Amino acid sequence: MKRKRSETPTPVRPVIRTMDRRDFVEVVAIEYTAFEHHWSYQDFVAAQEHPNNVCRVAELDDAVAGYMIYKLARARLELVNLAVAAPLRRQGIATALLDKLKSQLSQQRRTRITAPVRERNLAGQLLLRACGFRCVEVLHGTYDESDEDAYLFRFRHRDLGLVSMRPAGLGPLVE
Ligand SMILES: CC(C)(COP(=O)(O)OP(=O)(O)OC[C@H]1O[C@@H](n2cnc3c(N)ncnc32)[C@H](O)[C@@H]1OP(=O)(O)O)[C@@H](O)C(=O)NCCC(=O)NCCS
Repeated sequence: MKRKRSETPTPVRPVIRTMDRRDFVEVVAIEYTAFEHHWSYQDFVAAQEHPNNVCRVAELDDAVAGYMIYKLARARLELVNLAVAAPLRRQGIATALLDKLKSQLSQQRRTRITAPVRERNLAGQLLLRACGFRCVEVLHGTYDESDEDAYLFRFRHRDLGLVSMRPAGLGPLVE
C-alpha cells in the first residue's frame, strides 16, 4: 500500500460543503462501493435529519468525490461515516474532509474527535494515523452484524499544532 514519493499525485482541492438531498444518489453510490456493511439511502436521510449530526460532501468539478458525517456530542465530535469515490482516492480528499472536521474543534467546548474504525479496515486506520489521530482503545461488541472489534482513534485540539511537525510514518499506531 505504500508508494514512492515520485508516484504521489498532487493533492486536489475539493470544495467542502453541506450535504443536501440532491447529493444522496452520488453519496449512496460511493457508500455501496466503499463498505461491505453499507448504509442505505434511508440511513443517510435519517442521519441528515438528526439535529446532532453534521453531513458534508467534498465536491470536485461539480461532482461528489467524498463525504463525511459526524456527530456533535457534548465535549467531542464523533466521526460516524467517511468515504471517497474509489477512482479519486490517494489525492488528499479524505484529508481535506478531516481538516474541515478538525477546524470545528475548540479549546473550551468540543476538544477532541473520536473515530471508531473496524479492525480489518487498514486504509481507514492508516488515513487517520497520517492525519494525526492515535488509536487509544480497542472496542468489543460494536457491530451487530459481525464480531469484529473496532479501534477507537482520537484527535485532540491540542494536537493541532503537532500534525505538520510529525512525518506521517512516525509514531505508534496504538497509543
Ligand atoms: C480510507 C479512505 C477514506 C481514504 O480516502 P483518500 O481520499 O484516499 O485519503 P487521502 O488521499 O487523504 O490519504 C491521506 C493519507 O492517508 C494514508 N492512506 C489513505 N489511504 C490509504 C491506503 N489505501 N493505503 C495506505 N495508506 C493510505 C496515506 O498516508 C495517505 O497519504 P499518501 O497518499 O500521500 O500516501 C478511502 O480509501 C475510502 O473511502 N475507503 C473506504 C471507506 C473507508 O474505509 N472509510 C473509513 C475511513 S476512517
